[in-house]
Amino acid sequence: MKRIVIFASGSGSNAENIISFFSDNPSVNIAAVLTNKSSAKVLERCDRLGVPAFYFNKPAFKDSNAIVDFLRGLQTDLVVLAGFLWKIPENLIKAYPNKIVNIHPALLPNYGGKGMYGDRVHKAVKDNNETETGITIHYVNENYDEGATIFQAKTVIEPSDTPETIAQKVHRLEYEHFPKVIEKLLS
Ligand code: GAR
Repeated sequence: MKRIVIFASGSGSNAENIISFFSDNPSVNIAAVLTNKSSAKVLERCDRLGVPAFYFNKPAFKDSNAIVDFLRGLQTDLVVLAGFLWKIPENLIKAYPNKIVNIHPALLPNYGGKGMYGDRVHKAVKDNNETETGITIHYVNENYDEGATIFQAKTVIEPSDTPETIAQKVHRLEYEHFPKVIEKLLS
């Protein structure tokens, strides 16, 4: 049995998609979802889906070993960041080398780094009149969005696209590919 713990800060539509994807797979368990935001919609989703979900604050995350201890207690095999916005502290990266993966809603190394997340990315892509964007799934290291790339997929941007329609296209790619990439990493 492989155990995944998902970190999410907001809506959690990727988290829900991953949970659904593995729901009929007896060898993969979503052991928990963790969030840094007590009002995050992902908590409602987990409640509905029957997945244990927990909130943690910044001191617990940054200045203690609480999260590492929690992950170890669950015998976590893979940590999945699905719309998680805090930088991962060194103790967590050291405890799970190449076992933490993130999804970024653009083609890294473009449109990455601190402050580049969610709709901000799609707005920047639109402002620069890009003709394509996509997703990057990558390992997590000490720097925002700089770990080794595992997978990328692209989508075309039409001149008529808005940041909102770009977001929809990117989300479609995320839903299609993220669970499959996770499955491969576990095999
Ligand atoms: C996703 O598009 C994900 O790629 C992005 O946040 C969104 C979360 O949506 N992540 C980042 O921007 C990380 N830098 P969701 O909460 O509905 O899954």
